[in-house]
Amino acid sequence: MKKLYIEGNKKLIGNVLISGSKNAALPILFMTILTKEKIKIGNIPKLTDIKIAIKLLKSLGAEIIYQNKFLYINPGLINIYSPPYKLIKKIRASIWMLAPLLIRFGKTKMFFPGGCKIGTRPINLHLNGLIKLGAKIIKKENSILAYIDKPLRGQYICMEKISVGATITIMSAATLARGITTIENAAKEPEIIDIAKFLNTLGANIIGAGSNKIYIKGVLKLNGGEHQIIPDRIETGTFLIAAAISKGFITCQNTEPKHLKNVLKKLSQTGAIIKTGKNWIKLDMRNKIPKSINISTSPYPGFPTDMQPQFTLLNSIAQGKSIVIENIFENRFGYVKELIKMGAQIEIKKNYITCQGVSNLFSKNIFSTDLRGSATLVLAGCIAKGNTIVNNIYHLKRGYASFEKKLNKLGANIQYL
Ligand code: UD1
Repeated sequence: MKKLYIEGNKKLIGNVLISGSKNAALPILFMTILTKEKIKIGNIPKLTDIKIAIKLLKSLGAEIIYQNKFLYINPGLINIYSPPYKLIKKIRASIWMLAPLLIRFGKTKMFFPGGCKIGTRPINLHLNGLIKLGAKIIKKENSILAYIDKPLRGQYICMEKISVGATITIMSAATLARGITTIENAAKEPEIIDIAKFLNTLGANIIGAGSNKIYIKGVLKLNGGEHQIIPDRIETGTFLIAAAISKGFITCQNTEPKHLKNVLKKLSQTGAIIKTGKNWIKLDMRNKIPKSINISTSPYPGFPTDMQPQFTLLNSIAQGKSIVIENIFENRFGYVKELIKMGAQIEIKKNYITCQGVSNLFSKNIFSTDLRGSATLVLAGCIAKGNTIVNNIYHLKRGYASFEKKLNKLGANIQYL
């Protein structure tokens, strides 16, 4: 229940080094259960969710050390097929242990995963995919028993809804199935490509990741290998917003501009000057007031739901009126009432909000709601008039590496209370 004290009225200027992608690193960590050989992973972000994932792997018997910026994992020692409830409940990503444990041991007992309360977040598509490949699944009140009596069989699976999580589950299960699996209507996120690249490094045969049709030819065994996690596109976008709302100027380094095409397009529509290079993005909003923009979230390459709260903040201090539509999660406006406390003129309708930009936000004692909402409220504190307290910053640390330190380097003054 720690709090952050944030001094307002700041202009954020400077360079920031972007960390590895949380949403690629978490599934990749759990995919290591699919092999008994040693793995080396670079660019792992230092986050609470990652710490929990490492604890989960250790609880199964894996040996893991962090040395010279690399994580060394020996999954050969894993000998437990059911991870502990108290860790599983802490992160959404724990669902990605289900398929690897099932394949490795022929059985597993899992609990329903935790994570941000941004919607009901069912796991039916994960389970249906596994059932189609041949797994037997029994759902209890809060646990899942899964088992197989023979190897999974490749199948044609058409996803009824695009799901990042379920695409990852099915892709990982199919790597060691007999025959070919086709995932139609697959999610196309850069994280899916990174996970496929990692699995292929270990000897899997996956083609088409990043398109809406993924083909996986099952192999008998996966080996060890080394992998470098892609940069975090959502962390990058969050820092670009930090400069855009504070009339600042930022260079995000160690990032991948190609993964942010839609976000950069929207930011340039607000009036920001954007330049990109091979692994950097510069955003200049000095001496300007941003213009409002309409947003509608959709699966990649559409506008990411994980950037929706940050853009609402930008709209709340921009010139003009805007509409932000959330199409992925049904409960992702939790942070809005905190922005309203700070003076934002926002109205929540059903799955959308309308916003009339105001010239200033004002400091308040506010409560962080979920991961991306928390980052948004911290940024709001940096530009508000006065000094803001953000409570419950637990969520923030789950997904942003050294967020307050990186912002302080850009000129913010954020301290733990
Ligand atoms: C992942 C990301 C999250 C991001 C989201 C969408 C991680 C840890 N989380 O979440 O940051 O916001 O992708 O880009 O990587 N759905 C079902 N049944 C299922 C699975 C999903 O109905 O079995 C629905 C969800 O409720 C949601 C939609 O499908 O409405 C998309 O969810 P999904 O893409 O699976 O998101 P996550 O993998 O949970």
